[in-house]
Amino acid sequence: MPQPVIILGIESSCDDTGAAVLRDGKILANLVAGQKIHEQYGGVVPELASRAHQANIIPVVDAALKKAGISKQDITAVAYTKGPGLLGSLLVGSSFAKSFSSALHLPLLEVNHMQAHILAHFIDDANGNGDKPAFPFLCLTVSGGHTQIVLVNDYFDLKVIGETLDDAAGEAFDKSAKILGLPYPGGPLIDKFAKEGNPQAYKFSIPKIDELNFSFSGFKTAVLYFVQKNTAADADFIEKNKNDICASIQFTIVKILLEKLKQASLQTGINQIAIAGGVSANSGLRNALLENKLGWKVFIPKFEYCTDNAAMIAMTGYLKYLKSDFADSKSAPMARMKM
Ligand code: KG4
Ligand code: ZN
Repeated sequence: MPQPVIILGIESSCDDTGAAVLRDGKILANLVAGQKIHEQYGGVVPELASRAHQANIIPVVDAALKKAGISKQDITAVAYTKGPGLLGSLLVGSSFAKSFSSALHLPLLEVNHMQAHILAHFIDDANGNGDKPAFPFLCLTVSGGHTQIVLVNDYFDLKVIGETLDDAAGEAFDKSAKILGLPYPGGPLIDKFAKEGNPQAYKFSIPKIDELNFSFSGFKTAVLYFVQKNTAADADFIEKNKNDICASIQFTIVKILLEKLKQASLQTGINQIAIAGGVSANSGLRNALLENKLGWKVFIPKFEYCTDNAAMIAMTGYLKYLKSDFADSKSAPMARMKM
């Protein structure tokens, strides 16, 4: 029997500290410690995020190993998020991964966070039915910091063919939520209220942007003016119409995303469509894709693989391990990193 390949994955790019254990492509444990501290500030405070990562990282790794039922000696290699992300947050994960791997004489694997969101689709039970996209496919990668349409030709042959010129889709959700007085991160709350609302109640225009690119800053301003105008006339406007406002905001963001995705599919002739990143947890986006009448085969990850997680880091590390793409001792995080 060949030895199993067991990867410990570490994620710390933003405000979630994640540790996961993957054995031959199967997840044994995938734990995330969130950081409530940022809620009161309406966004992630980088210095507080780094400190929370420092407090969380050892207990999270320890709990992940226990949950997986393995000891440190069973680990084959350690994968960590090199970037993109907040430098202080990344430094905590990279310092931990480097010292842990060096103390145990284990190979180190560095992972691009945005590639990992996409490669999460190759985790054994990524979407619950074992179905995986075949190359080439298109992936709409939508998170708090990125909005991209990626042409995925192979695991590590990924080409960004469209992206946002300003705000990310996650920011469009979070900033709209902030305008409505909802706490950070507002995306999941808009999703929750939208379920009870009428998506056609209020109309917001769809921006006309060249090629396969996106823009969300005009939309955010439109939401701001809409709320200012209506609350001037009725101070309780938001409270009375919260569900309809959220449903209309979500409907518009999903429409902007889907129109570009349709254009990308037509342009490339590819109809295998995947989604990835935190916003792929959005039920409006998931339903719109599942109900598509475009002949698309869609790939939608389980919720735990949408928002930031270490399972996707371990999976990408595993694919790098298989091609012996190891990092050296000079490995260091990078706040900005290309796909
Ligand atoms: O991928 P992710 O966890 O972190 C980044 O790499 O940015 O994405 C976080 C983003 C936030 O903007 C959050 O509001 C959004 O994903 N998000 C959602 C939902 N769940 C998370 N947006 C809309 N609906 C959701 N259900
Ligand atoms: Zn992410």
